[in-house]
Amino acid sequence: MPLHQLLYISAAKVPFTEEQLTELVHDARDGNAKRGVTGLLLYSDGHFIQLIEGEVDAVRELASKIKADTRHHEFQQLLSRQSDARLFPDWSMGLASMADMSEEHRAEFSTFIQDVRSGKIQASPDDRAPMKLLVRFASVVGP
Ligand SMILES: Cc1cc2nc3c(=O)[nH]c(=O)nc-3n(C[C@H](O)[C@H](O)[C@H](O)COP(=O)(O)O)c2cc1C
Repeated sequence: MPLHQLLYISAAKVPFTEEQLTELVHDARDGNAKRGVTGLLLYSDGHFIQLIEGEVDAVRELASKIKADTRHHEFQQLLSRQSDARLFPDWSMGLASMADMSEEHRAEFSTFIQDVRSGKIQASPDDRAPMKLLVRFASVVGP
């Protein structure tokens, strides 16, 4: 079965507290374990970046659920592509939030969001910029 990866950014309607984030990810992990989905969620200053990866139908179905979630809006898909391997095979959903990030990470995160929103970084199947960002942030994923 081909593996699929989907990456998007979005904005919280109301900023999440660390407790709300922890709860969201706790639920997401349960849902993802059932679906065979793995990935990483980054959150800073009201913005999300999330990668979900797994079997194509599972990823698409989850993405449309997430997109419809009223806790966030301005959902912008950046990547949706077939892949040979999972980037985060061990995480049903890793979380890196502001509390885990250095000032540099937060600045990089915010520049990335601005670049996407302004069109400087565009959705492209070959664009590796978002993936590189995720891999750099993987080092600060909390428990
Ligand atoms: C930013 C964000 C990321 C989310 N990520 C996931 C996820 O990775 N997996 C998941 O099952 N739900 C995730 N959710 C929650 C879903 O939107 C939805 O509430 C959840 O799948 C439960 O849906 P259900 O009750 O219809 O099964 C996320 C929600 C938000 C706002």
